[in-house]
Amino acid sequence: MKTVRLHDKFFKLFIPYSEISAAIDRVADEINRDYKDSPEPPILLCVLSGAIMFTGELMKRLNFDCTLSSIKLSSYEGTSSTGVIKEIMGLTSPVEDRDVIILEDIVDTGRTVHSLVDMLKKRGASSVRIATMLLKTEVYDGDIPLDYVALEIPNRFIVGFGLDYDEIGRNLPDIYVIDN
Ligand code: IMP
Ligand code: MG
Repeated sequence: MKTVRLHDKFFKLFIPYSEISAAIDRVADEINRDYKDSPEPPILLCVLSGAIMFTGELMKRLNFDCTLSSIKLSSYEGTSSTGVIKEIMGLTSPVEDRDVIILEDIVDTGRTVHSLVDMLKKRGASSVRIATMLLKTEVYDGDIPLDYVALEIPNRFIVGFGLDYDEIGRNLPDIYVIDN
């Protein structure tokens, strides 16, 4: 079994790229179906830094006109959420009267995505949907519907494919789970 070491912890292979890719294919099909007749190009909103790989992979599968914006948020320290969402970098473009698709690496408690939806609505987005690569189903409080979910995972700390452990591990092409 393939394992990697990041800082003080070991991680083992959990979801190979082939499975991630097939799951993104499915989500892209759903998004293409829902947005193919959009009168205006929707905004894909990449939540940095974790969603960067998901965004790249998803975008190349979308076949309607769309624009790309980013925002940088942070709530995790080490292997757990601090519960406080910090805005490290604001929205890179206005969202007023635009359809927005939030692209997230992972939804855990859902606090990050909830606060982002509130913020986008306050700033006048005409619609907001959420696409996430991963969902920790047992943890998510389920307050707002998640429109597109590529993969559901148990409540374990994972890294790779954009996700980090204290900023390293994002470049791993597969997803790894903490080994304890
Ligand atoms: P939430 O606000 O609790 O839903 O946490 C979401 C954010 O926490 C994600 O966008 C990630 O940046 C980070 N996060 C949650 N779970 C993990 C994990 O297992 N590994 C790495 N980062 C995670
Ligand atoms: Mg994130």
